[in-house]
Amino acid sequence: MTKALLDKIVDLAVRRGIFFPTAEIYHGPAGFYDLGPLGSLMKHNIIQYWREFFILRETKINIYEIDGSIILPYTALKASGHVDKFTDPKTECRRCGRIYRADHLIEEVISISVEGKSLEEIEGVIAEHNIRCPSCGGELGEIKPHHLMFKTEIGAAGEVAFLRPETAQNIFLDFKRVYYSMRCKLPFGIAQVGRSYRNEISPRQSLFRLREFTQMEIEMFIAPEDLNTHPSFDEVRDVKIRILTREEQLKERPEVVEISAKDAVEEGVVPNQYMAYYLARETQFYMSLGIPFESIRFRHLLPEETPHYSGGNFDLEVRFSFGWKEIVGNAYRTDYDLSTHSRFSGEELAVQHNGRKVTPHVIEPSFGIERTLYALLEFSYSEDERGWPVLKLPRRVSPVKAAVLPLMRKDGLDEKAYSIYSSLRRVPNPCYVVYDDTGSIGRRYARADEIGVNLCITIDYQTLEDDTVTVRDRDTKQQIRVKASELMDIITKDTLRPVIG
Ligand code: ATP
Ligand code: GLY
Repeated sequence: MTKALLDKIVDLAVRRGIFFPTAEIYHGPAGFYDLGPLGSLMKHNIIQYWREFFILRETKINIYEIDGSIILPYTALKASGHVDKFTDPKTECRRCGRIYRADHLIEEVISISVEGKSLEEIEGVIAEHNIRCPSCGGELGEIKPHHLMFKTEIGAAGEVAFLRPETAQNIFLDFKRVYYSMRCKLPFGIAQVGRSYRNEISPRQSLFRLREFTQMEIEMFIAPEDLNTHPSFDEVRDVKIRILTREEQLKERPEVVEISAKDAVEEGVVPNQYMAYYLARETQFYMSLGIPFESIRFRHLLPEETPHYSGGNFDLEVRFSFGWKEIVGNAYRTDYDLSTHSRFSGEELAVQHNGRKVTPHVIEPSFGIERTLYALLEFSYSEDERGWPVLKLPRRVSPVKAAVLPLMRKDGLDEKAYSIYSSLRRVPNPCYVVYDDTGSIGRRYARADEIGVNLCITIDYQTLEDDTVTVRDRDTKQQIRVKASELMDIITKDTLRPVIG
């Protein structure tokens, strides 16, 4: 399946309220999507699962979550390097005026990566290969830097500010406050889930390249001499990770190296235990969400692609129907951010560790929620024998855990069903359950399968006699008869059921 799968998913998403374009009735600008009722439930479930997986279960290292401002002052982003370096190369067609992201255009037309090359070098590649405007065949103009941050102004005086391009910056700016208020000791982490903004030149592939998106980021602060002693490393030492090394990427037919986390550190494939720890945990996380092992790889970015703040990046890429694409960036940010913020602000950002002052080094896993959400849709999309969509979403993340369906809207079946439905929605209530009594039972099953409802609970005439109901599983289509009083327990256990395979 190629482009067709993306189109099918977008069609389903728009039709069933998973996501749709922002300000659609006004033909809103590209690169902005709203999550509908089901998409926002999925997003909530992804965040909660991520939080449990990466923060709450981490008992040997404290990780604190913050919720910072989206608008950040010019000075902070000047210090971080974003004002000067956060650009993409663009070119404009001299004939039709269309604007293209030059590096992406070159990659699409002649399959050559020009990441990290200067503007003059990119211009040279375009001239050498005579790359023209894909739309009208016109000549392409000079390559210019396109700044990716959205600029805004604060207050009546119009102080220049930006919408944050990554959630990480709040974490560095708040480092000192969190360190002292939470009585931290190295190593520790600060996490944030929130919106980030990039004025991308060519937003595309629905949720994939957005101008407003959501990140889940952790900055782990570690004394440099401790980078190879993660206290929980033993839990992941044998976990296999798939790495596309720099050397392999230079070959004609690059091969992925499959290696345990421990060997990856010992053989120098990854720079330290903390990085290997996150690559292993991310593999486990995405596999538990139904992404097959072979469809996950970590690409060690080439030096010229590595961001200005990073001493080495390993992008988690997933094999989508439209190719391998990044959904998580893992950066070894060294002490770059704390040192530059300390220099620019004049604030001391070194802390005490083993009797001396240390500026911690940082390992950063940076997850994109919309790309994760789209990945889950792609990997769970299937069609039944009639060609109707079935979303076999991971049980944890599916927006609706169960649908309560009276067989008929008469003879007291509807009242009984409604009372069962209300009891399942009662607080304390771990399940999101819906009620549906319109159309044939077959139609209702199909409607539920299409949005990945885990279980369908049918109330029939036997329910009125013995208080039992049928429970149908979305994936196996098997039905079992259970007591209505057991439903809450069944739904909860089903939601927590791990993905198999
Ligand atoms: P790409 O190379 O695809 O542009 P990136 O290298 O700019 O991605 P990072 O800067 O590493 O991405 O950002 C960390 C994560 O934030 C990404 O892995 C992705 O999940 C998410 N992200 C970044 N840019 C976007 C975007 N424009 N739309 C949606 N998600 C994004
Ligand atoms: N914080 C990493 C990134 O957004 O690029």
